[in-house]
Amino acid sequence: MNKQATFTRFDECTKEDIDAVIESYNAFAKGLPARVLDHLRLLDGDFGGFNVDRLQHCLQTATRAHHDGKDEEYVVCALLHDIGDIYGRSVKCKPSLSVAVVFCLFNFCCNLHINNSTV
Ligand SMILES: [Fe+2]
Repeated sequence: MNKQATFTRFDECTKEDIDAVIESYNAFAKGLPARVLDHLRLLDGDFGGFNVDRLQHCLQTATRAHHDGKDEEYVVCALLHDIGDIYGRSVKCKPSLSVAVVFCLFNFCCNLHINNSTV
């Protein structure tokens, strides 16, 4: 089992606590690509009245972005742009929720990329 932080207040936090948090985060972050793909697969079969499901739509969007010469970050965002729809379709804040989910995923991807680049 991984080490765990023991503090309950930040003013009691030790270097060992921070090391435990960072170690845990780094281990969890390694699973991000698989979690993103699992989440993307949740769009499979969600047609919503259209003739392609949301997964196909996202793949088409990313493919078109790639064919249009967009950079990798743009293509990834195109791929994931509807990933939040499974949470927000019935609420008024759906667009902002989708953007928030994609932003969070993109941020995690960037952090993972940065972490991997410095190793
Ligand atoms: Fe879309």
